[in-house]
Amino acid sequence: MLRPREAVRLLKKYRPPMEGRAGKLRLDFNENTVGCAPEVARALRRALVPEALARYPEYEEGRGALARYFNVAPGEMLLTNGTDDAIKLITDTFVDPGDVLVVPAPTFPVFQFFHSAAGGRTVQVRFDEDFRLPLDRLLQAINQSRPAGRWVALANPNNPTGTMLPKKDLAAVLEAAPRTLVLVDEAYFDFSGETVLPWIRKYPNLAVSRTFSKAFGLAALRMGCLFASEGLADDLRRAQNPFAVNALALAAALEAIRHHSAVRRYARDVRANLEVFSKWLESREIPYVPSRANFVLTRVGECAPEIARRLREEGILVRDWSYDPHLRGYLRFTIGTREQTRRLIEELARMEHRMDTHAGSHVWRNFVSYSPTGWFA
Ligand SMILES: Cc1ncc(COP(=O)(O)O)c(C=O)c1O
Repeated sequence: MLRPREAVRLLKKYRPPMEGRAGKLRLDFNENTVGCAPEVARALRRALVPEALARYPEYEEGRGALARYFNVAPGEMLLTNGTDDAIKLITDTFVDPGDVLVVPAPTFPVFQFFHSAAGGRTVQVRFDEDFRLPLDRLLQAINQSRPAGRWVALANPNNPTGTMLPKKDLAAVLEAAPRTLVLVDEAYFDFSGETVLPWIRKYPNLAVSRTFSKAFGLAALRMGCLFASEGLADDLRRAQNPFAVNALALAAALEAIRHHSAVRRYARDVRANLEVFSKWLESREIPYVPSRANFVLTRVGECAPEIARRLREEGILVRDWSYDPHLRGYLRFTIGTREQTRRLIEELARMEHRMDTHAGSHVWRNFVSYSPTGWFA
């Protein structure tokens, strides 16, 4: 019988988004909740020409336009099949069995997933109770790893916390470990507005990733970019799948950057709605982590799975993080339009009211501490 490599046999299954999400209010995977600009969909329809589909993709012109948009040289950029592919490219290029990846915990699980598939070992640095990442422990983890930390993955803003590592901490990591690759994953840059992309000229150990899956509303097409100094980008290119990005994804991305004002508008609305939602949480004394992205992590208590289930019954999908032992009782809500935020608040308030009547007490308070699932019965 065929046996996969040991690292693959030991791999924990990654849980991708569940099926059957169409038509629901998708507040579970931090996507754009309205869809891409209509011009992008039109450009895709125009690209559906049989002769064009018969050809392998050509990248040069598109790479040039994207490099101009991101203000880098074409040699400093790789087109990737989403950020996931950029992460896998890093492990394909740099990770030997036994190498160490340092990540904050909790964070986006795909870093560890591909690293483990390559046979690497992951060292996690926990956020403190205030969801701050202690720089000293991060540096310690990088420097004390044996063999020395091969790479560090820092989502900025981080998923699921929505928090950002201050630029001075990022600089400290880059400077303290010049032989360690530092990936700064800026999937939520369009919401945070903060970037270290220009630093690729200053730090040869820095890689920065961006995606078209979030604010741009193109998650289905799988399109991302990975940026690094020309030397590092050259090394990464050696291991890259030469046709990682399909022609339709590239066409969509090129049209999307032509209409980036729509993305800026969407991001601005999301930021305003995030504030509305955060204020509502405060008014109910529900603890949450102040976020710089298009989602917010909240501590609702032991009933988190039940709340998520009830919302799903009402057609609203949210992400329950309770499967992580450190995040039991936490739900993550993606923030969308004003109308969608209003609907979410209304549904939560209705639930609160129903349970208030049932339990005769301040239910959200009880969510926050311990509330037996039975209340929902
Ligand atoms: C931090 C982070 N990076 C990357 C991704 C995925 O990006 P892509 O769709 O480009 O693979 C996500 C998606 O949730 C994310 O949270």
